[in-house]
Amino acid sequence: MAIRPILHYPDKRLRTPGEPVEEFGAELQQLVEDMAETMYAAPGVGLAAPQIGVAQRVFIIDVATDDDEPSDLMVFVNPEILEKQGECLFDEGCLSFPGAREEIERAEWVKVRAQDQFGETFELEADGLLAIAVQHENDHLDGKLMIDRLGVLRRRLLHRTMTKRQPAA
Ligand code: NI
Repeated sequence: MAIRPILHYPDKRLRTPGEPVEEFGAELQQLVEDMAETMYAAPGVGLAAPQIGVAQRVFIIDVATDDDEPSDLMVFVNPEILEKQGECLFDEGCLSFPGAREEIERAEWVKVRAQDQFGETFELEADGLLAIAVQHENDHLDGKLMIDRLGVLRRRLLHRTMTKRQPAA
């Protein structure tokens, strides 16, 4: 297992759409393990493969954020959002935008179909934080970032903040 460096906006690799996964072999298992280790170390509730520079349609989520909650890692390979319902505003963060929190409009409820890391297809209905995370991470697979969902002014401000950030000492 290895912690992989997380790409930060405006790294262009975050804009590369993920390719569908066709092989569910050792390479994918290693990728998922590394992604999990990277996400838990950050820590974050979700991580998509393009965030570590791997242009594949894979993301992971663990919304068990309280220390006393058991971890509940969910792996989504080749996901597809089948249905969306409702609207809500949610204060989102992203490991590719360190320190930023932005209120973003999303569907309140989603139905998603994906494969697990072994290629088994599953369907899931989600609301709350899980529904938000699924939509946020799924965007990453299309090279779409939370900044794209902001209005013009907040987008400019966030862009400026992210591009003026000094490299960590
Ligand atoms: Ni993100």
